Amino acid sequence: MILIFLGPPGSGKGTQAKLLAEKLKIAHISLGDLLREEVRIGSVIGKQAKAMMDAGKLVPDELTIELAQNRIKKDDCRRGFIMDGFPRSAAQADAFDKMLAQNKLTLGAAVYFAVDEEPLVKRLLLRAQLEGRADDTESVIRTRFEVYAKQTAPLIEHYKKIGKLVEIDAARPIDQVTKELFALEAIASVL
Ligand code: AP5
Repeated sequence: MILIFLGPPGSGKGTQAKLLAEKLKIAHISLGDLLREEVRIGSVIGKQAKAMMDAGKLVPDELTIELAQNRIKKDDCRRGFIMDGFPRSAAQADAFDKMLAQNKLTLGAAVYFAVDEEPLVKRLLLRAQLEGRADDTESVIRTRFEVYAKQTAPLIEHYKKIGKLVEIDAARPIDQVTKELFALEAIASVL
């Protein structure tokens, strides 16, 4: 099972991807986590990515595409994987379509986490108090939303056009979102 989780910052992609990946025994691939790890170890990619991440902007496509390409070749992806936060641009979506075709893999669904911006700003500011993530300040959060609207939201149409988009109401409490996610036809059929 191969899934894409698509949605604005703070919409719960990471939270739900972790739960579903455990349930389906597939890999959870968070591009944000992969990039934060590159920054932590001070790699070449990490050094190039840090300023963009701190500013809430997208890291250059060639870096994220390379990271995604290498990650899906790992053993834990054999049963499938959830792409959390990738693709986020038209170029990434194009590259991902090609990656799947080259590896003879088929996308199960692109799950769109639909929710308005304001409650998400509150969620992320709350997380800032709990976890202190560097990009969870109000001004960077606003930039992340602008970037999402310009560069990532158009992908909703792309996945709709190819018949892979499914939408869930991500404004509800975590356990209710999980329930709706697990009940989606594409997912319930393999649970
Ligand atoms: P990334 O780490 O992916 O950040 P993001 O997309 O902004 O996503 P978040 O982790 O903030 O939100 P989420 O939807 O996963 O929600 P979560 O479950 O964590 O990316 C960070 C940066 O890396 C980007 O800005 C960019 O610079 C770079 N980057 C990453 N991918 C890239 C790519 N493909 N291309 C280029 N650059 C890239 O939940 C958020 C909070 O809300 C948590 O505290 C959680 O407990 C809480 N919560 C979750 N669900 C609910 C709910 N239903 N109700 C109440 N609270 C909830």
